Amino acid sequence: MEILDVTLIEPRFKHPAIFKKFDELADEKAFIINNDHDPKPLYYQLLAERGQIFTWEYLENGPETWQVKIQKKLNQNEETIGEMVTKDFRKAQVFKKLGIDFCCGGKKTLKEVCDKKGIDLKKVEEELRSFNEKDNTTLDFNQMELDFLSDYIVNIHHKYVKESLPFMTELATKVAKVHGDQHPELLEVARIFNSLAQDFGLHLMKEENILFPYIKELVTAKKEDKHLPTASFGKVNNPTQMMETEHEQAGVDMGAIRKLTNNYQLPQDACNSYRILFKKLAEFENDLFNHVHLENNILFPKSIVLEKEIIFD
Ligand SMILES: [Fe+2]
Ligand SMILES: [Fe+2]
Repeated sequence: MEILDVTLIEPRFKHPAIFKKFDELADEKAFIINNDHDPKPLYYQLLAERGQIFTWEYLENGPETWQVKIQKKLNQNEETIGEMVTKDFRKAQVFKKLGIDFCCGGKKTLKEVCDKKGIDLKKVEEELRSFNEKDNTTLDFNQMELDFLSDYIVNIHHKYVKESLPFMTELATKVAKVHGDQHPELLEVARIFNSLAQDFGLHLMKEENILFPYIKELVTAKKEDKHLPTASFGKVNNPTQMMETEHEQAGVDMGAIRKLTNNYQLPQDACNSYRILFKKLAEFENDLFNHVHLENNILFPKSIVLEKEIIFD
């Protein structure tokens, strides 16, 4: 079996190289990655962007070397086009664009149709996958253990926010500077976004350093039937309420930006940076909705219920 030694790859090329290797795998085939730290973040990224179509097996689990066997599951191409659209209706637009009938002809698999029409299957698969990214309609968050779900949120959404904020604040400031005379609303957009960036950066830290570790402790206490001391913040609904208020503020900020920009409508004279800023803002808002949904509607209420089952000293 092929071994990919990740330690030899330049950091920014690591994940792309692994994804490429994975995408090229035939069903049921596997490869091994070698690493000098636990590649768990990759696991979450692969899960988010490709779905539950692989197995992840530690052959060696530290403390110096980590070896993981990643295997593609069988029959990934067996799903019919109709089934794919039922699971995620947005995929219909890809099929429509390519002239693939997803209604009456929906009983065929993608491979069958592509073979028949002479369409490049890999290209279509790539296009369809772009819908999975940061959206994850195929993942059942409601079934996830809470420690797993909090790791998922950190590895996907927090990572996205942390990567986006510096770039976006710089861009918003720049665009406001250049186009603020003609489009004064951009000054307000930059001001609001900068303040959101500051607040939300702190928000993530509170979750990662205080709330999420506590939720994990609850999960462990339940599993191991252990008692817990009462947390310094009291019951878990104290921090979750605070987090929800902060989510609301972020939502209000993004709503104000959306209104100021008239739903991210670009003026005729918009330059490239202007376009990129609006695109990123829309993407950021979308990610925020998904992120907050997972916390407000799943993670937090379930933590409150879980906490009630734990015995405190
Ligand atoms: Fe969060
Ligand atoms: Fe949050």
